[in-house]
Amino acid sequence: MAPKPIKHAHLQIDGESVTIDLPIYQGTAGAPVIDVAKLGASGYFTYDPGFMSTAACDSDITFIDGDKGILLHRGYPIEQLAEQSNFLELCYLLLNGDLPNREQNDEFVNIIKRHTMVHEQLVRFFSGFRRDAHPMAIMCGVVGAMSAFYHDSLDIDDQDHRRITAHRLIAKIPTIAAMCHKYSRGQPFIYPRNDLDYSANFLHMMFATPTEKYEVSPTLARAMDRIFLLHADHEQNASTSTVRLAGSTGANPFACIAAGIAALWGPAHGGANEAVLTMLAEIGEEKNIGEFVRKVKDKDSGVRLMGFGHRVYKNYDPRAKVMQQTCKEVLEELGVNNDPQLRLAQKLEKIALEDDYFVQRKLYPNVDFYSGIILKAIGIPVEMFTVIFATGRTPGWISQWKEMISGPYKIGRPRQLYLGAAQRDYVAINKR
Ligand code: CMC
Repeated sequence: MAPKPIKHAHLQIDGESVTIDLPIYQGTAGAPVIDVAKLGASGYFTYDPGFMSTAACDSDITFIDGDKGILLHRGYPIEQLAEQSNFLELCYLLLNGDLPNREQNDEFVNIIKRHTMVHEQLVRFFSGFRRDAHPMAIMCGVVGAMSAFYHDSLDIDDQDHRRITAHRLIAKIPTIAAMCHKYSRGQPFIYPRNDLDYSANFLHMMFATPTEKYEVSPTLARAMDRIFLLHADHEQNASTSTVRLAGSTGANPFACIAAGIAALWGPAHGGANEAVLTMLAEIGEEKNIGEFVRKVKDKDSGVRLMGFGHRVYKNYDPRAKVMQQTCKEVLEELGVNNDPQLRLAQKLEKIALEDDYFVQRKLYPNVDFYSGIILKAIGIPVEMFTVIFATGRTPGWISQWKEMISGPYKIGRPRQLYLGAAQRDYVAINKR
């Protein structure tokens, strides 16, 4: 619900005598917003392609100050959460608004553990996909299909149903993600192990086989947990806005999250971590970096430096800072500091950070630049990178959906500036 206006803007339109009064609100932090909701009644709409200046909702969950490089979840800085908390605790925080006490934490962890298995019949959906299907294609399909399995908890107006669905999604998405990987390898699915924590269990489901014991490295499990944690929510980004838009129609939450997964897939959003590695493979050798950077700076080439730049962060991406540190730890633990592709990434990063083109446009490495490198070092195949992002982003999507559904909301229905043909009469085919 909108707060009380702190002041008003007055919109005067050339040649019209009426002044339109627009209330201005100030949130807890961030720029004040001008409320244009009632503008339509005056015969005008606002026009803002790409939502460059438009807040589509109010929210209590996440705050970003892109100029200062600040990211807060429920008020807590991401750096403190990455250092002192863990992914599941952050899930609780995003969903419930406050950090859990020990008892609440134990109960939450236990609930998530008890929901990690997927319905055995859901397993059959996988075999409908070709083995070479992109795991994001499988994930969209299988998560959407979950709508057909949980009729006991699909009443979006029932807060218990919403809570159960949130738990199911957070618990089962890693299982589905790992199944996408196993399917593409032609390996048997590995069941979750409830004696492992969330991220260690994910690595177990990814890398264990029925024939060999898989010891989960605590450093890699911690890195995995950090990757999930750093992706958990990012206010009204493209995929989260998609989840909200789908949810605003009253669609069931599994369908909404499947829509979010689809929106995340693109290379300008969650697909960027995969695109970083594809780009490194294309560059191939260090001697080609100069030519590649020249192409990036040439507007006509259409080439971008993947893993650099962000719509909101114009200083640095605070998640990238934490990720850079994790990246160092992982590379040391695995002793892969000498991997040629990783060396290439480090060289590229250094050159881009010093180059005027990037400095002037405030283009810094984003979270995906380093997460791609870490995931590769852990042994996760490139095509799984966006699936990992989706797994981490699930609590954000479901918290934002829950926030919207729990309060008064309207179906999301943007307007347009129509530039097509004016009304004209149909012409019979023999007269065209
Ligand atoms: N490489 C080269 N030039 C770039 C890049 C880049 N990665 N990003 C922006 N620019 C240039 C762009 O050409 C433009 O230059 P000019 O002002 O001379 O026309 C200027 O910087 C502003 O670009 P923009 O397209 O207006 O910026 P945006 O805020 O609309 O785009 C972005 C943000 C993330 C889509 C873009 O920076 C990009 O395509 N980055 C590469 C893809 C990527 O890494 N995406 C992951 C984002 S972080 C994960 C997430 O939250 O989803």
